[in-house]
Amino acid sequence: MRHGLFASRRVSSSSRALLGSTLALASLQRTMSTAIKLNDGRLHPQIGYGTYKVGFVPASASAAAAAPPQEGVSAVDCVAAALELGYRFLDCAEFYGNEAAVGEAIAKSGVPRSELFLASKVWTTKIHEGPAAVQAQLEQTLRDLRTDYIDLYCIHWPVPGKHVAAYQQLEKAQQAGLVRSLGVSNYAVEDFQELMASATVTPAINQIEINPFLYRKNTIGFFESQGVKLQSYRSLRDGKAFDDPTVVGLAQKHGRSAAQILGRWCVQKGFIYIPKSVKRERMADNMAVFDFELAADDVAALDALTTPAAIDKFKELYVKCVVRDTPDAGRAAELAREKVTLD
Ligand SMILES: NC(=O)c1ccc[n+]([C@@H]2O[C@H](COP(=O)([O-])OP(=O)(O)OC[C@H]3O[C@@H](n4cnc5c(N)ncnc54)[C@H](OP(=O)(O)O)[C@@H]3O)[C@@H](O)[C@H]2O)c1
Repeated sequence: MRHGLFASRRVSSSSRALLGSTLALASLQRTMSTAIKLNDGRLHPQIGYGTYKVGFVPASASAAAAAPPQEGVSAVDCVAAALELGYRFLDCAEFYGNEAAVGEAIAKSGVPRSELFLASKVWTTKIHEGPAAVQAQLEQTLRDLRTDYIDLYCIHWPVPGKHVAAYQQLEKAQQAGLVRSLGVSNYAVEDFQELMASATVTPAINQIEINPFLYRKNTIGFFESQGVKLQSYRSLRDGKAFDDPTVVGLAQKHGRSAAQILGRWCVQKGFIYIPKSVKRERMADNMAVFDFELAADDVAALDALTTPAAIDKFKELYVKCVVRDTPDAGRAAELAREKVTLD
């Protein structure tokens, strides 16, 4: 069964009333017209709102100490603003610690469930505990988001020795109608190959960091060759690359913001784009990436920004995060794969 919004590509009267401005209506219509078809036949909006560090910063978040929770910024208000502006795909996760607030914002918004694409992920702790914990967390997320099905549910990290059993539990949840599409996140080529040795459903999605400063062409090419669509996270390099001279130069050339240059690169490459901001004007800015085009040499200049140092840093993060928060956290180096495709 298709969802109303993406099946009909018409904006409902309740959404029209909520949007309140022609600009927001145009954004929503663009969101709908840029939907991507997944390997299970379902449609997925190409742009969504990222909810990590929205109203809450998890204790073990990278740079948590440097980025304390923003005073006075509530996840309910941010998600409400995103929905008002026309975002219809919300990228959530157990780890983000704010799914109940996301659910509250959805309930208050008046946007029909059929027009939303809700995605979530199960965290390493539950994956490590095993399938019963994974199922219990899925049910908790459904309660928090106030829905009886989720459009996409992902394994957040490929926890060594545990992620395959967790995914098999998701296959059962899909059979039971709780999940529409199955996905993974932060999977390397080797994690996917290990999964597919026993999985019966090919993941529709792999959500990984993709931006010009971490553009891992071999990994991306592999997943594309397997029919797995890529969701790009940290598409804006977590706000840390807006002063890069190449990005600044292209922003000037196109009369756009640095964020829009990074967002345009992402969607022009065919990736699913999930920018995060707690500021309404930036949420709007980030959506406006479908009305201009980067030239081939612009794209080539951005493609060339990934350095060997960035790949090394990525490797460190991968090794740490596959066991992060689990009882195996102290054994990261020992449990790390001997061979993992990094580029
Ligand atoms: N699967 C995973 O392991 C994983 C990991 C990380 C992220 N994600 C997902 O991907 C989403 C996006 O990634 P992210 O949140 O890490 O980083 P991001 O979207 O690349 O960047 C967010 C940062 O950029 C700033 N920003 C956003 N728009 C801006 C604009 N137009 N101008 C100037 N600054 C702007 C934000 O600040 P303000 O908020 O103050 O505006 C924030 O500091 C997350 O929210 C989450 O849904 C998934």
